[in-house]
Amino acid sequence: MPPGENVLAAALAAGIAIPYSCRAGRCASCKSKLVSGRIEYPVEFGGGAPPGITAAEIARGEVLLCQARPRSDLSVEVRRVPVRASNAAQAELVAVEPLPIGALLLRLRFIDASITVRPGQFIDLRNHAGDAERLPVVGGSAGILEVESPDDGGTLHRWLAEHAAAGTQLRIAGPFDRPR
Ligand code: FES
Repeated sequence: MPPGENVLAAALAAGIAIPYSCRAGRCASCKSKLVSGRIEYPVEFGGGAPPGITAAEIARGEVLLCQARPRSDLSVEVRRVPVRASNAAQAELVAVEPLPIGALLLRLRFIDASITVRPGQFIDLRNHAGDAERLPVVGGSAGILEVESPDDGGTLHRWLAEHAAAGTQLRIAGPFDRPR
């Protein structure tokens, strides 16, 4: 891991799906068991722990991975992001790349659950305002889904073209075998 990086960020960069939400030490979604090794939390917590973990949990060896910085080799027991055959999941945009003729390639990382979907299938993607569209899945691996948004003049595509950035959260439903 690069110096100063937190354990959650390093795990996600390595393609290891771990549940998380706030990434600020508040929600406890990333709480995990430290089996061995030492961690520290950033100085902004005044030498203590983030607000999302209690003294009793710390005493049991639990840590918040979104804030924990390793101070030795670590062994950590994490909850797996549940894999669903179908349904809905929250995802975060990792990257947006322009493609020819106005299309966008969206790289999405599952947050609260992971849906089994393969290239050639479709997902329904929805933003916080309720704009939705059925889009083709073109690739992906290790908790990352690659989806193409064609420039079809639709509301969601226009919103993505203007507002989509790394960190944007979107809702995914599916998979579907054909376009809408
Ligand atoms: S992701 Fe919220 S406390 Fe770590």
